[in-house]
Amino acid sequence: MTIKSSATNPAAPDMTWTLETLREQLIGIDEQVPLLDGSQVTYINFDNAASTPTFYPVADHLREFLKWYSNVHRGTGFKSQLSSWVFEKARETITRFVGADEAEHVTLFTKNTTEAINKLANRLPLKPDDVVLTTLMEHHSNELPWRRVAQVEHIGLEADGTLSLADFRKKLEKYAGRVKLVAVTGASNVTGYINDFHTIAALAHAAGARVLMDAAQLCPHRPVSMLPVSDPAHLDYLVFSAHKVYAPYGIGVLVGLRGTFEEGEPDAVGGGMVDIVNLEEAYWADLPDKEEAGTPDIVGVVVLGKIIKIIEQIGWEVIIRHEAELTAYALEKLAKIEGVEIYGDTDPATTVNRLGVISFNIKDVPHNLAAAVLNYEGGIGVRAGCFCAHTYVKYLLKVDRVTEKQYEDEIRKRNRANIPGTLRMSFGLYNAREEIDRLCDMVAKIAAGEYSGTYNLDIERGEYRPQGYHVDFNDFFQL
Ligand SMILES: Cc1ncc(COP(=O)(O)O)c(C=O)c1O
Repeated sequence: MTIKSSATNPAAPDMTWTLETLREQLIGIDEQVPLLDGSQVTYINFDNAASTPTFYPVADHLREFLKWYSNVHRGTGFKSQLSSWVFEKARETITRFVGADEAEHVTLFTKNTTEAINKLANRLPLKPDDVVLTTLMEHHSNELPWRRVAQVEHIGLEADGTLSLADFRKKLEKYAGRVKLVAVTGASNVTGYINDFHTIAALAHAAGARVLMDAAQLCPHRPVSMLPVSDPAHLDYLVFSAHKVYAPYGIGVLVGLRGTFEEGEPDAVGGGMVDIVNLEEAYWADLPDKEEAGTPDIVGVVVLGKIIKIIEQIGWEVIIRHEAELTAYALEKLAKIEGVEIYGDTDPATTVNRLGVISFNIKDVPHNLAAAVLNYEGGIGVRAGCFCAHTYVKYLLKVDRVTEKQYEDEIRKRNRANIPGTLRMSFGLYNAREEIDRLCDMVAKIAAGEYSGTYNLDIERGEYRPQGYHVDFNDFFQL
């Protein structure tokens, strides 16, 4: 069955999804990209931890919806009523997707995970003396917003880079009575480690704190459940981004205890979130409207609802097994390449317990140079650097405080020549073994110094570019 064209089956309602059919339906799976030697090659996307591509039937479904698209909540016309109806249906689907309970939780839409966490930081009644316990493995999005509203303390790490539950217990004791929130990632965007977040939640609740899970990395790869509020291991707040779940149409999700948002003032005010306004006063609407000022990203919400249905049709078991197999295969192959150092768990036998995110370096080759060679000579997209998790990457690289300070001084002087970091490959549910073979062949070449380009370093940007490579992006896409 091939239904790439939307002409015959616009929304593909009856399609049976398997990994094979998904690969056929992935938008951009066979795009040719130009290499340094003038040839072209099929692009490989190993940067799914940053953003995932989407599928033809999702784009087709959106095109179907656009026939009915209108603003939500306010219009009296049929299209507005239909749009409002499907918008709320999608909200229900998203609430169910994270195992939240509509009676206890409200699902709010934001721009992305970052905005969702900032919103929560603005809305929780925290005082400067309150403690938010986060971890040393967080993405900056789950660390910096908390610095603005409370005292931030960090749960430490074990030598292998996993979270230290012993240190967590110690910190709960040390700051007893002051810890108001434990903000922890579901899974690391650097090592793919999955945290024991329900145990963390149970310990946090016993200490009188609430719990936020940053599910930006976990949600695309594992089913999550916030659990009933009566369960000590429940999650009070959860955030994620649609663009990492095969729905790159622009929304973030914040699911949280209704009480948090029923109380207090909304962080943004304007249209769509008031019941009555006079010149002196404004009365806020009920949730969720109270917390969603202005016109929401209706398209983004509807598409996220659709992709969730597709993920559920494929089934988590299939996704988990496939990604674990890919990860094991990649770990085995990378381990055989001389000069490759992998950070985090390297055991191919335990990959069902972690995500398909692998950070590594190649001996004597700067990470950003290796990433450039993979792109310009291999047509392979990975990521290099610290992945917005500077503290964690420096911990894994064992960068001491003195060296860290030197890097900071250089970067402040706009010199990114020696910026620390690693390469990161990250899998989506559609990636294939053959793609890993191509990456490993290139990595082996790089490790042996057998790449062909001469690369110049842009010191200010910390990026390598090969001499003699000229591409006009207009040849590929135009506005
Ligand atoms: C664990 C984690 N949290 C938060 C974010 C931020 O997501 P966004 O850029 O969609 O706000 C990311 C993005 O990579 C992430 O990996």
